[in-house]
Amino acid sequence: MQIRAITPDDHAALFALWQRTPGIQLRAEDEYAPFCRYLARNPGLSLLVEDEGAAVACLLVGHDGRRGYLQHLLVDESWRGRSLARALLDEALARLADLGVHKSHVFVLRDAPEALAFWLAQAGWGEREDIAVFSTRSE
Ligand SMILES: CC(C)(COP(=O)(O)OP(=O)(O)OC[C@H]1O[C@@H](n2cnc3c(N)ncnc32)[C@H](O)[C@@H]1OP(=O)(O)O)[C@@H](O)C(=O)NCCC(=O)NCCS
Repeated sequence: MQIRAITPDDHAALFALWQRTPGIQLRAEDEYAPFCRYLARNPGLSLLVEDEGAAVACLLVGHDGRRGYLQHLLVDESWRGRSLARALLDEALARLADLGVHKSHVFVLRDAPEALAFWLAQAGWGEREDIAVFSTRSE
């Protein structure tokens, strides 16, 4: 089992993993072309864990030069509770720190109690109560 950077060739396997994982919401940005753009913009940061060639856990990681942004952290159900999520987070934050990015955010849906419980349990991570997030979209 090893952690390695995600490449465009991993898209089909990861898309299947996202689709079968409750709690992961798929967006237009998860399609192949935007996925490749994201990886190219954030080289070597998004990570997966594979076992005998099969992806069993993953984390998408990007940054804007100041802050890191994490998305789609997931571990396939039969692989949970083995510290794979922790290992992915540690590796991602180390890679961001190497780039001079020392602070990162993750946005968690309020109606995702398991995900909220996970993030509340992570040492070094704190829920922000001083910030409201506003979003927009343009075509
Ligand atoms: C959340 C998820 C990624 C955790 O994966 P995992 O590999 O089982 O997590 P780990 O084994 O690395 O756990 C790391 C720590 O978090 C704790 N933890 C794991 N899942 C937890 C949960 N649901 N609630 C509270 N704490 C949790 C573990 O006890 C462990 O704590 P420790 O280091 O003190 O022992 C996995 O349950 C998952 O894929 N869920 C569905 C997708 C999802 O909701 N992702 C979050 C999107 S924001």
